[in-house]
Amino acid sequence: MHHTRTRSTRRGLNAWRRVEGGFDAALGPAHNPLRHLGTLGFLALWLLAATGIVLYALFDTSVAGAWHSVERLAHLPLGSGRLLRGLHRYAADLLMVVVALHIVREWLHGHARGARRFHWLTGVPAVVLCFITAIGGFWLNWDHLAQYSAISTFEWLDTLPLFASPLARNFLAPAAFSDRMFSLFVFVHVGLPLLLLFALWFHIQRLSHVAMLPPRRLTLGVVLTLAGLALVSPVLSHPPAALGQTPVSLRIDWLLLWLHPVTDATSPHVTLALLGGALAVLLALPFVGRASRPAAAVVHPQECSGCGWCFDDCPYAAISMVPRPGQPAGRLLAHVDTDLCTACGICAGACPSSTPLRTAEPLVTGIDLPRLPVTMLRNQLRAQLQHHLRHGAEAPVVAFTCRHGATLPHSTAHVVHSELVCTGQLPPSFIEYALRSGAAGVLVAACPEGGCEFRLGERWIAQRLTQRRPPQLRPLAEPGRLQLAFAAAGASRVLEQAVQALRARTHLREHPLRKHPLHEHPSHEHPSHEHPSHEHRSHERP
Ligand code: HEM
Ligand code: HEM
Repeated sequence: MHHTRTRSTRRGLNAWRRVEGGFDAALGPAHNPLRHLGTLGFLALWLLAATGIVLYALFDTSVAGAWHSVERLAHLPLGSGRLLRGLHRYAADLLMVVVALHIVREWLHGHARGARRFHWLTGVPAVVLCFITAIGGFWLNWDHLAQYSAISTFEWLDTLPLFASPLARNFLAPAAFSDRMFSLFVFVHVGLPLLLLFALWFHIQRLSHVAMLPPRRLTLGVVLTLAGLALVSPVLSHPPAALGQTPVSLRIDWLLLWLHPVTDATSPHVTLALLGGALAVLLALPFVGRASRPAAAVVHPQECSGCGWCFDDCPYAAISMVPRPGQPAGRLLAHVDTDLCTACGICAGACPSSTPLRTAEPLVTGIDLPRLPVTMLRNQLRAQLQHHLRHGAEAPVVAFTCRHGATLPHSTAHVVHSELVCTGQLPPSFIEYALRSGAAGVLVAACPEGGCEFRLGERWIAQRLTQRRPPQLRPLAEPGRLQLAFAAAGASRVLEQAVQALRARTHLREHPLRKHPLHEHPSHEHPSHEHPSHEHRSHERP
């Protein structure tokens, strides 16, 4: 997406990418937590819900019984109570951390505006609900910390002109604090997560193919780490609450309860201004600055067969299949909701009419991207290839790269470079076309898993090239002429090496400029690729 980035956000994004690259190197992109922050948030929520329900079953919802019921958890056999309580607490910590990082990452990528404004704005209530729920969680076991947190919160709220009588008065004397008040705590802590789920349903409503969990090994790693923490550093209660006494030596969870000590150290007005300001900034970000939105995808009804492949692949659920006007029932036509379209071109890559092997001039396809239409892609490629074949010393490698991922230095010799808005924009038939037109080999460079600017481009292209998703690349006579590489922005070296590897393979052939009959020896081998994921997805056609 085109938008004006300030120098500081660009610097921030570069710093983020360096850190992300460090995690890539250590864990691989597929298991890099920074590439799966939203789904890690979901994982934390599922853990909170699962452990929360069991905790609730063991919990006594009365002022007198709450503390004892939680304390009993520490004595359950095999550390099961500790595990349960620790998992619940540490999952809440995890939630806060990943959501904070999720916000930063999306902001640095410029995702507060344009077609993502909806996702940004629906995220804001979710983060507010997480924050309130987490603080309320501490009140349930009614220990010294609960008392401190509850009173501190209510005193803080009393500085707002919201309530007729001060809320904190409820805690002045033990008699004033009733089971009814406590039930309200429980109601809030169990009820708000339900509201949160509803908010998150909205949050991902306009996205398609959203995973509800991170990749399996990352999920397992995170759950085991939290479980390890729960057993090694168990969550323990403070002494039972005693209204009228001032709690001392509290162990504060700084991720979840920072509000209270910061209020103590400053004043309620300072923290109110801090939180109010943060909320205002979050809500204002989608509306500040200039954001020029590239033109949305366009449907050409005469070329649209109604197959629905673009509908299936659109990461932003911007395409719907509608009845074709003036045609018998059942005949469908793609329709683009321009508000939702991020102009990534993944739909053009999915359209079976996007084949450059057709000689039509201009090449009109079923659904296309105005800023870089298929006809322009084909004509530029054709012109560049012809130029190289006429003037170059050897047959070039065609490199399809992504504008948002790694690019090849322009100085790379004997390369015809075709830069796409997203590699998911590439119709697989372009590979066949390039090879038929004299390319020595083809490099398709996509972003690493979880790194696509448009969420799904790298996944779809890998699946299309390995015959796991339509439109499929037809099996190549010489699969070694195709290289699929995954490299994040800045990792040009990976692409240079991929070109060298391709060149080394194709140089072995006796005459690089000979014609390659593509289907003389139909092969069922997959093209060489290095995709770390082996996702198999049955393709349901709409
Ligand atoms: C966004 C979701 C949630 C968050 C962020 C959250 C957070 C917390 C936190 C921070 C605590 C205090 C833990 C401690 O004492 O160290 C807590 C306690 C508790 N939560 Fe949740 N929780 C969530 C959802 C739920 C749900 C859905 C339930 C029940 C169905 C639940 C039931 C409980 C119970 C019974 C306690 C008291 C036990 C204890 O203090 O360990 N929670 N929660
Ligand atoms: C509990 C809180 C949250 C959870 C669990 C969550 C989860 C997710 C998930 C799973 C996605 C889809 C990611 C993908 O498949 O590519 C997503 C997207 C997104 N989220 Fe959140 N989110 C939360 C809060 C927020 C907040 C507070 C913001 C910003 C204020 C935000 C901004 C966004 C944006 C802009 C996208 C679209 C990303 C894109 O276009 O690639 N989210 N979120």
